[in-house]
Amino acid sequence: MNKQETSKVSRRQFLGMAWAASLVGLFGQAGAAMLQFLKPRMKPGGFGSKVIAGQVEEFKPGTISHVRAGRFYISRLEDGGLLALWHRCTHLGCTVPWRDDEGLFHCPCHNSIFTTEGDLVSGPAPRPMDLFPIEIVDGQVVVDTGNPIERAEINPSDATYI
Ligand code: FES
Repeated sequence: MNKQETSKVSRRQFLGMAWAASLVGLFGQAGAAMLQFLKPRMKPGGFGSKVIAGQVEEFKPGTISHVRAGRFYISRLEDGGLLALWHRCTHLGCTVPWRDDEGLFHCPCHNSIFTTEGDLVSGPAPRPMDLFPIEIVDGQVVVDTGNPIERAEINPSDATYI
């Protein structure tokens, strides 16, 4: 092998490596774009993630507060306990409004009625309102809307206390 042949092979190898590198870059970019496309589209802080409902003191005992972004109600019980109740009816999924005049959650679709604890009073719903877990972080009520809890019956331990 003379010097000139060695030089030709090196050039060919260089072009091959450059070509391979450009292909790796191209497929890398296409793969990254595909992963971005396939990633679940959950907004941080929106439904499906942990939602900050507000400061604990914003929820006075005996009140119901609707947190629409998280699709839940914060029910602050008279004894200070906190419940995050999914506003979705456990019958067929209608949004259940809180009725101040009745002091109850009353589903307009088929008349299921629930207490401030989400317990089923009447109607075709098969179980109490579902719950989301609550954490208190730096005085804020943080609700994990990615992990709903179905209850066959309500329990005093469902509430979160500070
Ligand atoms: S969807 Fe609520 S009672 Fe049927």
